[in-house]
Amino acid sequence: MRSPAHTVLDPFSPMTSLFARKPIAPEVVEDDSPIGTGQPASLKRTLGTGDLIMLAIGAVIGAGIFSSIGTAAAGEILPGGEIVRYGAGPALILSFVLLGFVCGLAALCYAELASMIPLAGSAYAYSYATLGELVAWIIGWDLILEYAVGNVAVAIAWSGYFTSFLTAFGIDLPGWLTHGYRTALLSSNPATHALLQTAPRVAGIPILLNVPAFVIVGLVTALLYIGVRESIRANNIMVVVKLLVLALFVVLGVQHIDPANYKPFAPNGWRGIHQGAAIVFFAYIGFDAVSTAAEETRNPQRNMPRGILGGLAVCTVIYIIVGAVATGLVPYEQLRAADPLATALQVAGLQTASWIVAFGAVVSLTAVLLVFQYGQPRIFFAMARDGLLPRWAARIHPKYRTPHITTVLTGVIVALGALVMDENEIYDLTNIGTLSAFAIVCIGVLALRVMDPDRPRPFRVPFIWPVALGGAGACLYVMTGLPVHAWERFGIWLAIGLLLYFVYGYRNSLLRRSLSTSSFTRSS
Ligand code: ALA
Repeated sequence: MRSPAHTVLDPFSPMTSLFARKPIAPEVVEDDSPIGTGQPASLKRTLGTGDLIMLAIGAVIGAGIFSSIGTAAAGEILPGGEIVRYGAGPALILSFVLLGFVCGLAALCYAELASMIPLAGSAYAYSYATLGELVAWIIGWDLILEYAVGNVAVAIAWSGYFTSFLTAFGIDLPGWLTHGYRTALLSSNPATHALLQTAPRVAGIPILLNVPAFVIVGLVTALLYIGVRESIRANNIMVVVKLLVLALFVVLGVQHIDPANYKPFAPNGWRGIHQGAAIVFFAYIGFDAVSTAAEETRNPQRNMPRGILGGLAVCTVIYIIVGAVATGLVPYEQLRAADPLATALQVAGLQTASWIVAFGAVVSLTAVLLVFQYGQPRIFFAMARDGLLPRWAARIHPKYRTPHITTVLTGVIVALGALVMDENEIYDLTNIGTLSAFAIVCIGVLALRVMDPDRPRPFRVPFIWPVALGGAGACLYVMTGLPVHAWERFGIWLAIGLLLYFVYGYRNSLLRRSLSTSSFTRSS
């Protein structure tokens, strides 16, 4: 007889207990009965395809399209002339098509897990129930790259557009207060790189701090501490602002396209398209958030794939149009800026439109900051509740009912990172961590089909083998487009994570403790 999904043959064998799986809670039932009626409690299924598409746009469109698009198109060159990555040029639109496909496969796998495992809390919770504790820890550790580290980049992008917007009022903040040290060090823009020389010094060290990025993270953290967060309504308003601003960019920009800018179309061939995709992947992060709504979706078997693939298609089309207009407005090298869309309009002589787009970007990026700054403390919280992180991290504020300790911890980490780091190196680290989490989830959904085929699945991935294996392979392929330093840093990150796990999580895991207690009871 097959063993149930959550049992482990020998809990005391060090190898198997590393892969101990958390029991999956009772399966989701299609049920609208209110909590407290004695009926199984499940979320109310109210969301349709259209709601899921709105959710996708809200979570996904942000720094990726407003900012990383510049490096994806233009590539990255160090001040000494060394090429870090090749840009896609106008062929950036093909990078977007490639990513739409990759994310589609991964998101379908997410949807199956999300619909069958009724736990709040993303890939960490899913993998704990499917692939076991060690893999769950690695995913949780990777998710820090997606959420907290990713938000460092969003905050820096926010600062780029905020600074640009302030110029509408004649306010020009000094460069040393709006660029982090790493940005000045790595920038091939002569004016930015020169900040290393011109910035004020303390004890010989140039003071280069991205103060707006630091301040916005502080404000967002304060809001989340007291429990303010985006509601569906607020999300819809943000979505409208994003779409209006991008529509304005397209409608005005398209009238100023110079076809000469499209030649050559792919200046660095497939290498540029691949490496461009590896950085602009950031624009797609957030699709996993959509799949977590599976439990609240009406007829998930039909609406989930429609919502996910529809949302992806809508975002991909928006990205292709914006990419085509941006690379047609100016020669693609000129997009290498902190605020590429605003810069493109400005270079084309559309100053007022540039300010409006900068304002819209500030609003859109604030929304993304809120969503991810909200998510990270809850992942920490889930890990602490399972005993993999210290218990104090799972404390709830007595008045505001928020995980205040992890909220502040996340705020401090992100704010300090945003103060001094460079956006591009952060995109790389976030993308490699998120892509590896996606790949593990693809394998996880397949593993669970094999290990536990009879468990009810409100949504089943069609053609599971090619979708899951293709999804994992495609994520790995995109990862290979990232620079070597991203792999090195990711390796160090994983090594630190494993060390922490074996020093702390392995010994304190509540699941492993309960396994040893139950085994003790059996044998005594
Ligand atoms: N996809 C999100 C963004 O582009 C993370 O900001």
